[in-house]
Amino acid sequence: MPSIQDEIQQLREQLHTANYQYYVCDDPSIPDAEYDRLFKRLQILENQHPELLTADSPTQRVGAPALSAFSSVQHEMPMLSLDNAFSEQDMQDFVKRIQERLNSSAEIEFACEPKLDGLAVSLLYRDGILVRGATRGDGSSGEDITLNVRTIGSIPLRLQGDDFPPVLEVRGEVYMPRKGFEVLNQRARDNGEKTFVNPRNAAAGSLRQLDSAITAKRPLEFCCYSLGIVEGREMPGKHSDILACFARWGFKTNAESAVVQGVNACLDYYQKLGEKRDALAYDIDGVVFKVNDIQLQKRLGFISRAPRWAIAHKFPAQEEMTLLEDVEFQVGRTGAITPVARLQPVFVGGVTVSNATLHNMDEIKRLDLKIGDTVIIRRAGDVIPQVARVVLEKRNLLCHDIIFPAVCPVCGSQIEKIEGEAVARCTGGLFCGAQRKEAIKHFASRKAMDVDGLGDKIVDQLVDAGLVDTLDDLYFLELDKLAALERMGVKSAQNILDALENSKNTSLERFIYALGIREVGVATASNLVNHFASLEALMGASLEQLLEVDDVGPVVAEHVAHFFAEAHNRSVIEALLAAGIHWPAPKTPAEGEQPLAGLTYVITGTLASMGRDQAGDYLKGLGAKVAGSVSAKTSALVAGEKAGSKLTKAQSLGVPVLDEGAFLALLAEHGITL
Ligand code: IVH
Repeated sequence: MPSIQDEIQQLREQLHTANYQYYVCDDPSIPDAEYDRLFKRLQILENQHPELLTADSPTQRVGAPALSAFSSVQHEMPMLSLDNAFSEQDMQDFVKRIQERLNSSAEIEFACEPKLDGLAVSLLYRDGILVRGATRGDGSSGEDITLNVRTIGSIPLRLQGDDFPPVLEVRGEVYMPRKGFEVLNQRARDNGEKTFVNPRNAAAGSLRQLDSAITAKRPLEFCCYSLGIVEGREMPGKHSDILACFARWGFKTNAESAVVQGVNACLDYYQKLGEKRDALAYDIDGVVFKVNDIQLQKRLGFISRAPRWAIAHKFPAQEEMTLLEDVEFQVGRTGAITPVARLQPVFVGGVTVSNATLHNMDEIKRLDLKIGDTVIIRRAGDVIPQVARVVLEKRNLLCHDIIFPAVCPVCGSQIEKIEGEAVARCTGGLFCGAQRKEAIKHFASRKAMDVDGLGDKIVDQLVDAGLVDTLDDLYFLELDKLAALERMGVKSAQNILDALENSKNTSLERFIYALGIREVGVATASNLVNHFASLEALMGASLEQLLEVDDVGPVVAEHVAHFFAEAHNRSVIEALLAAGIHWPAPKTPAEGEQPLAGLTYVITGTLASMGRDQAGDYLKGLGAKVAGSVSAKTSALVAGEKAGSKLTKAQSLGVPVLDEGAFLALLAEHGITL
């Protein structure tokens, strides 16, 4: 039995390693559940033995009681800023200045690093233990954010190895990776809260929290890039070797870092990183070039607040100002109506942007946006351009409100907005041009009308060629026109026409499902049919009546009612029926006894005369249940060709097995002949 001390020690080692693997190496070593288990065990032991709790314990990352203010920290060694280069010429001048000052024409070795877009932070370690974290502030003094930095997974609470200096200050950038930023903002949007303008602001806002428990919940990372004060041990003479030490001691260093010789290689690095910029997981706004030799750095020294030995070569901005000229409303494939900003074209993040999504009306309200406003556009990575904020100081009297359209801008149908949902939708469904392709694909799909061969690509072609506008057009397609489509041919075209013809003989459940009413899946369609028995009754149902149906709540009821209230949808349904779609007449209650009620069937293998879904429909129509797997409770198994394990199981359980002939006979017995 290890002593409590030993167990605590061992748990901490395991958790430190797991943390390092996860946050610094991006290579998790143990499953999350195992981490949680070790963490809980350590928490319990520390609670039982508070005298054994130490500040570097992994349990101390979750946040501490809130502060009322940050205290101030004096930087023993000032935290400097960098001069900028905006062109090749600026870079040539920078290197020339260095050579002149060193009185040498020899090529200079540079350490190249991405310029991370976050906040500079100083971390102080005494005997390998993190004792203080501070912001840069004005460079000479910053704020004590120790409690907050302790919550960041990629910041070691205790250094690895044993060759670190007794006093060591590591500097670097705290930043928020793009993905984490998007998730954070999406959550804010969903909760109707204010969003962050960009990952940098989000990182700053998260780090400057008096309540470190909030910081702990934010996806922050730390990457180190320079040395502050050191005592008690020599550090290497090259910047790149110092970074290698940091990595050994457990810090995250940037994987894109490189060492190159001379200005041309610097320009090359800049070009290559620029090409990679969009694909990085985090925002960068340039490249930092540093003279790699620390002796040379010392000889070059500083000018005002920036070193002569380093420069930031900036990339094109990812945020720019422009004018919001108009807002248009687009209808998506599912009917979602999205406001889109029409902008005075602006070059941002390397491309010219003239449109940006505004998501929904809530977002417009949150941004307090008006047409004519001056706005900040942000485009970073492969994320679509966003309106980050309004420059209110530039608002004038000509700016005016954005009005949401009263009806669908594409088809003129009613727009529905469900309480509590941010998105407004067109109710045009089958009729709306914007939703046409999706509606047709759904209509033809296997569980709907099951039109074999009418795949997504063909639907796209049919709509693009103007051959199908509304669903009923499908049933009037002509062989020669269909055969003339790309990669089609007469044989395939004929097969599709045959499949369409066959699909006319369907069930009411399938037809209702095929209409593509929002939230009405196969099960709901079936419940609706069980309840109303006929299409007419369903179409005439009030909200109250719809709410009486099994598993139909207010949202679904509203979708159904809206759908059938729309005149366009009614006329598409009429046209489909006129085209010949039909299903067995509903049984009147007198003859509607369900002969197979209480029985459960399972269908397996391939039936020659129909698909398994259709076979299931017939059985359900007779009152039976259709299950997916065989058990002792199964009344009978319908087994087609190539039946496999279900057949074996049925036989072993003594469940009766019907082959296709016996199944057809059963149907015929109940008045169903094919
Ligand atoms: S070195 C004396 N390296 O840029 C050199 N800074 O404008 C001090 N930054 O406040 C900084 N990435 O927040 C350095 N790889 C990098 C950097 C970097 C981002 C930031 C840092 C600093 C600002 C200087």
